[in-house]
Amino acid sequence: MHASTAQRKDAGVSASPLAGVLLGDHEFAYLRDFVYQNLGIALSDQKRQLVQGRLARRLRQLHLPDYAAYCALLRADADSELGELASVISTNVTSFFREPHHYELLEKELLPQWLDCKRRDGDRLRIWSAGCSSGEEPYAIAMVLAEALETAGAKHLDAKILATDLSPQVLETARNGVYAADRLGGISAERRHRWLLRGSGANEGYVRVHPRLRELVTVQPLNLLHDWPMKGLFDAIFCRNVVIYFDTPTKKRLFSRYAALLPAGGYLFLGHSESMHGINDDFELVGRTAYRKRA
Ligand SMILES: C[S@@+](CC[C@H](N)C(=O)[O-])C[C@H]1O[C@@H](n2cnc3c(N)ncnc32)[C@H](O)[C@@H]1O
Repeated sequence: MHASTAQRKDAGVSASPLAGVLLGDHEFAYLRDFVYQNLGIALSDQKRQLVQGRLARRLRQLHLPDYAAYCALLRADADSELGELASVISTNVTSFFREPHHYELLEKELLPQWLDCKRRDGDRLRIWSAGCSSGEEPYAIAMVLAEALETAGAKHLDAKILATDLSPQVLETARNGVYAADRLGGISAERRHRWLLRGSGANEGYVRVHPRLRELVTVQPLNLLHDWPMKGLFDAIFCRNVVIYFDTPTKKRLFSRYAALLPAGGYLFLGHSESMHGINDDFELVGRTAYRKRA
């Protein structure tokens, strides 16, 4: 039950830029193209200094002499570096029950409705946490779902949460389901008691999520800009604080793809500073950054 590689990765690495090593035109053009194709983020010229500064730390970690060497690494093996690059350019910040109004809607309205309808053999309930980071979001959903299934006497129902992210580093933490005990702020005392197992000895200061939550959550790597293997429909998709850096054409494509994976009446949750306004009209706004697919 130890802290993950992702949690430890920055330990002991100096934040100072590589002295005198600049991000040249050629490398910036390559990175800009690469980041747009793979992360949907359009880097303007004004971002060059920022990218140079932030990548300097990564170059040190990898013991690379310059940005050309970093571009060569991306060319050779983009997939394994993409997650690190994403966290350099954007952020993996997350927490349990972040933006609690979405969990309230889920608990008080949506799950009771869905569980009332899903009574036949073979009925499925599917929720997707897209851009799940280190797993706090899908496990918080799982706590609410597990409780609702129990209340409805529907423990047998085929209910699953798919948790995906492009970053292997955060997915490792999500798979382990082990978290620092001082980062559980959003979870009620009752839920902590019920759903988190305290570590002892070498694991003092950490908690592990209850096996029931792990059973409900499937963690998979997935880049939202690439092909998706899922075929079946979801009842709800959480894609919160992910599209914030995407440009409008990328958001437009992504929201249409989400619409295709939701039935009429299915829900899409975005982050607090994200919106579909003027980008997509398959959905109507029904709460704070909560959208319902139109009939
Ligand atoms: C700020 S975190 C948000 C985590 C969680 N959804 C929340 O709201 O707390 C954004 C996550 O989106 C992931 N992400 C960014 N672009 C992505 C993409 N193209 N495909 C999949 N995941 C992506 C990042 O790796 C990061 O873990």
